[in-house]
Amino acid sequence: MCGIVGYIGARQAAPILLAGLEKLEYRGYDSAGICVVAPEESKLSYAKCLGKIINLRTRTRDGTALPGGNGIGHTRWATHGTPSETNSHPHLSGDGRIALVHNGIIENYQELAARLRDAGYVFRSETDSETIVHLLEDYYDGNPVAALRRAAAELRGSFALGVLFADFPGRLYALRKASPLIIGMGEGENFIASDVPALLTHTRKIIRMQEGSVAELASDGIKLWDADGCAITPNPETIDWDANSAQKDGHAHYTIKEIHEQPYALRRTISPRLRGDEIDFGFTKISEQELRDCNCIYLLGCGSAYHVGMVGKYYLEKLCRVFAIPVLASEFRYAHPVVTEKTLTIVVSQSGETADAREAMHEAQRLGSKVISIVNVKGSAIAVESDEVIYTHAGPEIGVATTKAYNVQLNALLLFALYMARVRGTAEEIYIKEEIHALQTLPEKMESFLFDVTTAQFYASVYCGGKDIYFLGRNVDYALALEGSLKLKEISYIHSEAYAAGELKHGTLALMEEGTPVVAVCTYTPLLDKMISNIVQVKARGAKVLAIVREGETGLDFVADYVWRIPASFGFTQSALTILPMQLFAYYVALQLDREIDQPRNLAKSVTVE
Ligand code: F6R
Repeated sequence: MCGIVGYIGARQAAPILLAGLEKLEYRGYDSAGICVVAPEESKLSYAKCLGKIINLRTRTRDGTALPGGNGIGHTRWATHGTPSETNSHPHLSGDGRIALVHNGIIENYQELAARLRDAGYVFRSETDSETIVHLLEDYYDGNPVAALRRAAAELRGSFALGVLFADFPGRLYALRKASPLIIGMGEGENFIASDVPALLTHTRKIIRMQEGSVAELASDGIKLWDADGCAITPNPETIDWDANSAQKDGHAHYTIKEIHEQPYALRRTISPRLRGDEIDFGFTKISEQELRDCNCIYLLGCGSAYHVGMVGKYYLEKLCRVFAIPVLASEFRYAHPVVTEKTLTIVVSQSGETADAREAMHEAQRLGSKVISIVNVKGSAIAVESDEVIYTHAGPEIGVATTKAYNVQLNALLLFALYMARVRGTAEEIYIKEEIHALQTLPEKMESFLFDVTTAQFYASVYCGGKDIYFLGRNVDYALALEGSLKLKEISYIHSEAYAAGELKHGTLALMEEGTPVVAVCTYTPLLDKMISNIVQVKARGAKVLAIVREGETGLDFVADYVWRIPASFGFTQSALTILPMQLFAYYVALQLDREIDQPRNLAKSVTVE
């Protein structure tokens, strides 16, 4: 979603803002803009453009047309009002003395806008964001921090703001509520940004702004206040990954680079939690007794993170003998969920900022459930607000469609299920150990499969002409097929659906005809015979079937049109391998169709609106 950058220091701000915005392109956007304080006259000058940042570069002659050492920049992902130059940020106050960039949604903007219009403020755009700048102008009496605090108290929704006041040419202001915003600390210069990649070429020392906090940045210092207006001492952290982690490293796209990074991401996620065969999450707020008493687990997430919950249900129910219910986060909040003192909630989120997931988590907490989050971004809202957090260590994921983060979430959840099963005594120790050993050897198996992508390229060329592609599976394979299908539709724009293969005969068989492309996921061995019957049924109607099977499996050889073999692994660790061919398939189909793979249309990386 929208991206924010800001710079204050001795260098020219505009080129730094443009480069920073380019690093945030992965979040998804349709227009962009920058604003700087012109040095001599303390005047705000800005430029905005529809489309890509290259347009803004051209318009501003790579930033040289806007001189000044203090500025803010923005990439917009339209929510209120069409993508257009007028609707893009920055928005300026009527007197042109305040400029603002905003990420998030203002829920009560209509009532505020009506009041401000009555008071004589003239709106130029259709956005909710413009309301904030007029509100600031209304409250501004020479004290920017006071105006920001007053405005924030009236705004409902989510907002990360970068703000310039022409009266304070040596200050850059920032405010954060329910949308991510970080501060980068440099030598004689400071920065703000929505995410770390925008800052990495300048500094690795960052401060994650607390919920409700306000910041005043100068080139030589930073002041911070919490939601109650009390001064906070900055607590910087050092980012332990470097700029290269956010580069393509010779790959054509971030997406394929990140697919290949999965073995490494998995090692980094699993090994810190294992001491020999012991699993340790270091929980302090959820006791072993609570895990023993638990009789229901909600698994909440959106999109791929929800699919992780779908897979996790099979892990938890089999290993821990507990009801495990995956629920779409956007539905959970409004579904009157049954929560008792024995309910546990697991929220899965790569970004840790997804509004639907966060609100669902708040609802679970309000109803009395403790929450464990599985999150990739350190210090993100969901990580901070949950009772316990299991961090995945996938590193920065720049491709909008998740790949490596999804896979490490699966395995973090598996490790948790094994831990909980041991605490509850619901699985044989010998079985738990075998799963743990298999987890440790998974990265090598993943590497060996990913080493050669020619098979993926071949099947992509066979299937890329399809109009609708169906994915079938049973048990965990069904849950994994949901993700395979989502990946394909997200980045190739081919319509695709995943079905539980046993459901075919209850309706979907009607769609099978000569040449219908079907990907049959057949790696869950206990139900292989049933999958073979389902494949025979679709073949009888003319479907063209690509079966994904474990090495050594021969049952499909004379049934499916194509058989794609993947390495076999013990028990539930198979999932991490089964998803790989589907990710590669989606990637190479999208490549053949020349799609914008890293930034598919209409999608955003961190969805901070409900
Ligand atoms: C799909 C995808 C999305 C996200 C979803 C949740 O490839 O990336 O479906 O999984 O928007 O995002 P997080 O995990 O950040 O909460």
